[in-house]
Amino acid sequence: MESQTRRARRPRVADSAGPAVRRRARVMQRPAAPAAYAAAPAADQLAAPAGELQQQPAAPAAELQQQPAAPAAVSCIDDCVERLWGRLTTRQRVNVRFRPRKLKVGTACSGTDSVMKVLARLQVATGWEFEHTFSCEFSETKRRWLTDNFPGVQHIFVDVTELHKGIALDAVSGRPVPVPPVDLFIAGFVCKSVSAENAQRAEFADCIARSSGLTGETFRGVQLFCQEFQPSIVICENVSGLVKRIGGSEPPIEAVEREFAAMGYSVGHEVLDSRHFLLPQRRTRCWIWAMRRVVAGSERCVLDVLSQLQQPTPTPLSEFLASAAAGPTDWVFFSGRAKLSEREMRVVEHARSHVARARPLQRLLDLVVDVSKSFGRAPSCVDASTCVLPNSRLYWQRENRVQG
Ligand SMILES: C[S@@+](CC[C@H](N)C(=O)[O-])C[C@H]1O[C@@H](n2cnc3c(N)ncnc32)[C@H](O)[C@@H]1O
Repeated sequence: MESQTRRARRPRVADSAGPAVRRRARVMQRPAAPAAYAAAPAADQLAAPAGELQQQPAAPAAELQQQPAAPAAVSCIDDCVERLWGRLTTRQRVNVRFRPRKLKVGTACSGTDSVMKVLARLQVATGWEFEHTFSCEFSETKRRWLTDNFPGVQHIFVDVTELHKGIALDAVSGRPVPVPPVDLFIAGFVCKSVSAENAQRAEFADCIARSSGLTGETFRGVQLFCQEFQPSIVICENVSGLVKRIGGSEPPIEAVEREFAAMGYSVGHEVLDSRHFLLPQRRTRCWIWAMRRVVAGSERCVLDVLSQLQQPTPTPLSEFLASAAAGPTDWVFFSGRAKLSEREMRVVEHARSHVARARPLQRLLDLVVDVSKSFGRAPSCVDASTCVLPNSRLYWQRENRVQG
């Protein structure tokens, strides 16, 4: 389900773009899989059992020719950033390089702050300098991760809802300190209330407008910070549930965009899947960008760049893992031989039987199933990993391995 804003914007991308870009834009805007996808899986999330697959006839040559080749697999984050940067046109790169200067970056609801790893690499490519001014994370365990992995960060605040007050508790110094302004503010505000996994989701249909639930409360923190500190660029990330209607209510993204617009930002959003950005993990997320209204056409520029960065044919999981295993890598995956419990075996069997029915000509058997989930609700995916969550236990059929 897409918002009015998204529907209205789509033709503008397609109008001036060539057919290849138009195709990519459609892929990019494809709505996320519904929550219960495991119960009624989409065709591309399924695979047939190995035995059945071997008996399948090969796809017709014409069909194969229509598939653009997948790019070679990336082996680590640096490689990934470099390859994506390389996809930009010369004009796009020149625009980014224009007047490089130091940008102060703050993150909130920071989690692992992996975005800072990406910015560190982007710094090399662009000539821009990113200064990690602060993170802000409620979980003590995650704050410890941030301290260990980002020793240069100046402050690690504790609560995003406190930032706008100007003085907030800093875990680095252990006392309240002034909150510094930043140019770029990145916030993955909490998704719980709007997540399709949340059975009480209907109670939070207007969580953004009412600042209710963890999603509404943490978004309110983001909003108040932006109101007080006016960062030039804000990037937010959340689950794709944000763009879906909850009952008869408008999708929560509508309220998010209204709030940014009311603060004087030019705002846009897209649902993107990491599978189309060199990483074979199905992870559909709503990305929101808000810019102070100083640069005319900036939204159009974002859409063009996103379209340019997308790969229409995702890299197959097996290639990605082989490439990661061959050199220095940031990914560790599927190291343990699988010893599935009876319940887990039933979960895998259920996913496999759906594949056989939904896609009898499926040629690949790279089925991944999250066996931590219950029978009939376990996410599964072909040629890519399912979304990895903290309690996931992924089973990779091809190699009979589990995540570890
Ligand atoms: C959806 S996750 C964001 C994940 C992050 N984008 C990443 O890449 O790891 C939301 C994060 O917000 C944190 N959080 C929840 N309430 C918070 C609060 N009031 N202030 C700061 N962080 C909070 C959670 O602990 C969690 O790590």
